[in-house]
Amino acid sequence: MVVTMVVESKGNGVVRSNSTARDRGYNMTQHYLFPRTHREYQRQVLQARAWERATRQALENCGPILSGHILDVGCGCGGAMPLLAERVGAHGCVTGLDIDGEAIATARTTTTSSHSAANKFVQADISQRVNLDVDGFDLVFARMVLLHTHRPVEILPRLWEWVRPGGSLLIMDYDLTSSSSFPQHTVIERALRFSIDTFRRGGLDVEIGSRMPALFVEAGLPAPDGCDITSMILPAGPSVNILRESLFSLRAPILRLRLTDAATLDRTDEELAVAADSQVHVRWPDMVATWKRKPI
Ligand SMILES: C[S@@+](CC[C@H](N)C(=O)[O-])C[C@H]1O[C@@H](n2cnc3c(N)ncnc32)[C@H](O)[C@@H]1O
Repeated sequence: MVVTMVVESKGNGVVRSNSTARDRGYNMTQHYLFPRTHREYQRQVLQARAWERATRQALENCGPILSGHILDVGCGCGGAMPLLAERVGAHGCVTGLDIDGEAIATARTTTTSSHSAANKFVQADISQRVNLDVDGFDLVFARMVLLHTHRPVEILPRLWEWVRPGGSLLIMDYDLTSSSSFPQHTVIERALRFSIDTFRRGGLDVEIGSRMPALFVEAGLPAPDGCDITSMILPAGPSVNILRESLFSLRAPILRLRLTDAATLDRTDEELAVAADSQVHVRWPDMVATWKRKPI
């Protein structure tokens, strides 16, 4: 089944429009744990900022972009798009693809003023076959996306197909198991556990970042050219802030999966607010970048 749904381009309006995800009856929340809310989109933006340096480094590791068309798979609110636009320059083009039309709408407004490369957007579900009507991209990039999919091994070959000869595939994803507090803080550890258990019990691979080179091979792709891990240890303040936002966003699945009750979640949030002022440092989930250039 071909499921390209909406293709839009900055300044040019709708280039091609078939039907929307809603029209086709997709349950967009079936696999994705996070809600489609303004608050969650703001959390995504905060998270994207935190990984800017690692992303720049990963893009550099991938080598030069030859002629300047990048696909940002699972672009969300466009958090990585300005960095991708830097790589292609003013005459290049960055296409953001996401299943979520609201996130695309946010990306469209936030990326318009931030750089001069053209933006295009596609609303599509990468767990289905997607026809992009493009010869191939110089870089296919997916950051913090495959973690949210149940069959990444089926998705990787599709992403690889979209890479043109001489172009690259770059996947950045978390290993959630590395996050911890130093010295250990009971409430922060509890919050981290709720978060990781939600992914695990939701059937998702919480170590997917570390597993990515092996997944490339399992998916029939050539072994990656490189793999790089970024670890980040930050003071309690900024770490707890995003942890509270994550728990807020994950509240519904946490309760649905019966990982705890609403009263414990409320208490945890209050205790986290206090923990933000502590002298504790928090190691964030590791971010693993895995890349491969396609032979010409
Ligand atoms: C955590 S956000 C990451 C956003 C962005 N890549 C970044 O690094 O800031 C994950 C994004 O993947 C998208 N996504 C999840 N499953 C998807 C699917 N099957 N097809 C397309 N997009 C998907 C979600 O809608 C969400 O916008």
